Formats: sequence, structure tokens, C-alpha cells
Amino acid sequence: MAKVKLIDIYNHPISQKYIRRSGMAHAISVAYYALHLAKGHNVNPDWAAKAGFLHDIGHYEWYSDGQWDYQQYREYDIHPIKGAERAHKLLIRLGEDKQAAKEIAHAILFHTDSALPKGKYELAPLQKIIHLADEKDKQPENLHHYRKIDRLKEKALIQRLDQKIENVMFEKSN
Ligand SMILES: [Fe+2]
Repeated sequence: MAKVKLIDIYNHPISQKYIRRSGMAHAISVAYYALHLAKGHNVNPDWAAKAGFLHDIGHYEWYSDGQWDYQQYREYDIHPIKGAERAHKLLIRLGEDKQAAKEIAHAILFHTDSALPKGKYELAPLQKIIHLADEKDKQPENLHHYRKIDRLKEKALIQRLDQKIENVMFEKSN
């Protein structure tokens, strides 16, 4: 069984504050995509779902005059770096396994190339699928960050995801 459940991560005030900032609905669907992709890429499904859910936890609010300032965002954003650190701290605080916390933090750091120097990188399978899962959920004009669902539905989706993870882990161990 996973050491920390997604519902524990979801319920934590740090997640509520920072994941909501970049979109709870987006985080949940990236977690679903990541879990789905994990199967085909031989990746730990629990790590994939958690990294998917937490991948955008590092976002800062780039507002000027009440509007999101994309110019500033493009120039100064470091959300993969901030997110990797924030997610790692949260996971450790919740009692996550240290290896899992490290792999998840790395997947968040590499989910977009905005934090990387130019060049070709060979990403580990977990890092690759978080990038792919994020791409799958992207909508024109960044609408994926603004999509909303009600909180009861969010909770139900997270609980279903926990159940799915447990089922996949159980199948794998048998
Ligand atoms: Fe994203």
C-alpha cells in the first residue's frame, strides 16, 4: 500500500493553496493521465499519479493590474524548480518514502523545459510521462489552468484515483 494517499496530499492546506492557484481540475486530470501512461512505460503508478497531481504546485501569481501577466511569467517563471522543492517538502512532511519523494520532485523539475538549459536531455520514464500527461491536458490560451469543478467532485475523483492506484499496485505485486 502507498505510504501517503492522494487524498492526504489533496487535503493538506499547502496543496489547497498552491495547486488551486494553477488549477485543481488540471492537476487531477494530469494525475489520471499520468497513472494511465505509467502502465505502458513501466513506471511506478503511485509515483506517477502523485507527480502528475503535484506538477504545477510551484506556480507564482504573475498579476499586474488584476490580470495575469504572461510577459512577466515567460521571463521570470521558475515554477518547476519551486514546485519540485515544495512538493518534496510536503511529501516528506506527510511521511512519504524518501526515494519516492526524490523521484517525484525530479519529475516535477523536468516536466517542462523552462527550467532547463538548452540542449537534448535523456529523461527518465517517470519524468517523460509527467511531461506527456501535462501536454495531454493543455487547452488553447491556457484554459486548462482556469477549468473548475466543484469540491465534492474533486474529492470523489481523488478518492477514485487512490483506489485505482491501490488496484494497480495489488495487480503488480501478484
Ligand atoms: Fe500543467
